[in-house]
Amino acid sequence: MMLAAERMDHVSEDGIVRLVDAFYTKVRTDAELGPIFDRAIKDNWPHHLEKMYAFWSSVMLTSGRYKGNPMMKHMALPGMKPELFTRWLALFEDTCRELCDDTIRAAFMDRAHRIAESLQLGLFYRPDRPWPPQG
Ligand code: HEM
Repeated sequence: MMLAAERMDHVSEDGIVRLVDAFYTKVRTDAELGPIFDRAIKDNWPHHLEKMYAFWSSVMLTSGRYKGNPMMKHMALPGMKPELFTRWLALFEDTCRELCDDTIRAAFMDRAHRIAESLQLGLFYRPDRPWPPQG
């Protein structure tokens, strides 16, 4: 747990690196999410983390550093299901709570929820089934 004085009170590239590192440390040891990431990323974690710094920098600082297609990447992952997004968002929120002031946490979570919703629509939405998916 970080001291209150060290919590992010504005979004910076450094802060994004700390947040992303802390988040994927949780993800990798998570019983549900860990195996999916390990299967896809194997020993490429430094590369994945660099991509995620660039992604959040593009999202939060409109730096344009990220070039990629998250939807395609997630469509290719075996074992994706809606419950995993609930878990992903819970771990991301825990990390934001540990590292960020409330307003910064809210800004990250707003984006995370929107992007998660958009990924889930692409992955799981079917016109002939209820939305959101029923457990
Ligand atoms: C169930 C939840 C999720 C799981 C299990 C998951 C898993 C993964 C995995 C395994 C990769 C690496 C794919 C590869 O390199 O082949 C990846 C990439 C990525 N994920 Fe997720 N993800 C989830 C949700 C999210 C959410 C909510 C966001 C954004 C808020 C996100 C953003 C990204 C981005 C930007 C990449 C990099 C894509 C690229 O290679 O350009 N993911 N994800």
